Amino acid sequence: MKRIDVRAGKPYQVKIGRGLLRSCGAEMQGINLYGKIMIVTDDNVAPLYLQTVSESLKNCGFSVYSHTLPHGENSKNFDELVKLLNFTAHCGLTRSDTLVALGGGVVGDLCGFAAAIYMRGVHFVQLPTTLLAAVDSSVGGKTAVDLTAGKNLAGAFYQPDLVLCDPEPFATLPGEEYANGMAEVIKYGFIRDKELLELLQQSFEEEEVVARCVQSKADIVANDEFDRGERMLLNFGHTVGHAIEAKSGYAIPHGQAVAIGMVKITQACVKNGLCPQETLDIMLKLTERYGLPTESPYPMSELFDYMVNDKKSSGDAITFVLPRETGNCELKKLTRTEWTALLS
Ligand code: NAD
Ligand code: GLY
Repeated sequence: MKRIDVRAGKPYQVKIGRGLLRSCGAEMQGINLYGKIMIVTDDNVAPLYLQTVSESLKNCGFSVYSHTLPHGENSKNFDELVKLLNFTAHCGLTRSDTLVALGGGVVGDLCGFAAAIYMRGVHFVQLPTTLLAAVDSSVGGKTAVDLTAGKNLAGAFYQPDLVLCDPEPFATLPGEEYANGMAEVIKYGFIRDKELLELLQQSFEEEEVVARCVQSKADIVANDEFDRGERMLLNFGHTVGHAIEAKSGYAIPHGQAVAIGMVKITQACVKNGLCPQETLDIMLKLTERYGLPTESPYPMSELFDYMVNDKKSSGDAITFVLPRETGNCELKKLTRTEWTALLS
């Protein structure tokens, strides 16, 4: 088992190892949680893992309740959040009790937001079951729901008390969902971990890869918990990616869109002499190896207005994550004239 300390305002551990879902009760006891637990999950994950987690918790003396959302991004909204809050109140959870997210990033983001606001904050544990949630969304405390106007527009920074990443559930992930997670894994390699990219070109141990990504995220969050500087590096490929997601009406999943976004910004940097061709070659090799797309279904010019509407823009200036070489990206705020020239 690997352990990574996240030195955020509220410090906590991320544990990574096979079998952690089965031992989650003892792990939660180990950080002095007790009382009532509300497990929040979705209707794909519940039949696969809810019983294992419930039994582990009950065997350790917790009183266990569960709430199941319909799967998918469409559930990450205020209606589902309010249903969860009302059910949590109905079950009598108090400030000393705990919300547990068992699922992917949708469940984690919504459950985390509920934990942040229920009785002004209760304990919160993340049990990620997708690769994407294990390497990214379960760590770092960004919680949110979507608004009609856009993704993640209402939320809070609220760190969990514990994250348990068990790679066993990745075995039941549909191939496309695994690939979505790989896009975020590849992202960590390009922003700060050249060795990870070498590992990804061979066969690898999931536990090791997840741990490398979580270590990167923990380091970044420790330096910039509230996303004012270094944390923006995690948005590599996301400016173009979010525009592709939005233009497709969210039919193109996040990981695929990010993969296209990483390729597009890297191609632009190579063309403008900001980054060597070798970086692009490695990226194309990895995206192909992990079944990720590299071509945008839309011309760049049709994505520009979506990019300005992204919540990361200020006016029409956007802070871009520009690859400079493999394993090294820099943040650069560009005016609309500058970024349209770069991407055209
Ligand atoms: P998801 O939660 O929708 O899960 C993807 C699909 O896989 C769902 O249908 C789910 O039911 C299913 N699933 C989950 N675990 C499974 C398993 N083990 N076996 C079989 N099926 C399983 O999506 P995701 O890709 O995990 O997360 C995407 C969400 O995360 C987006 O809402 C995104 O905005 C958010 N996100 C948040 C952060 C953050 O820092 N908070 C970072 C990245 C992404
Ligand atoms: N996934 C981006 C972040 O946590 O900042």
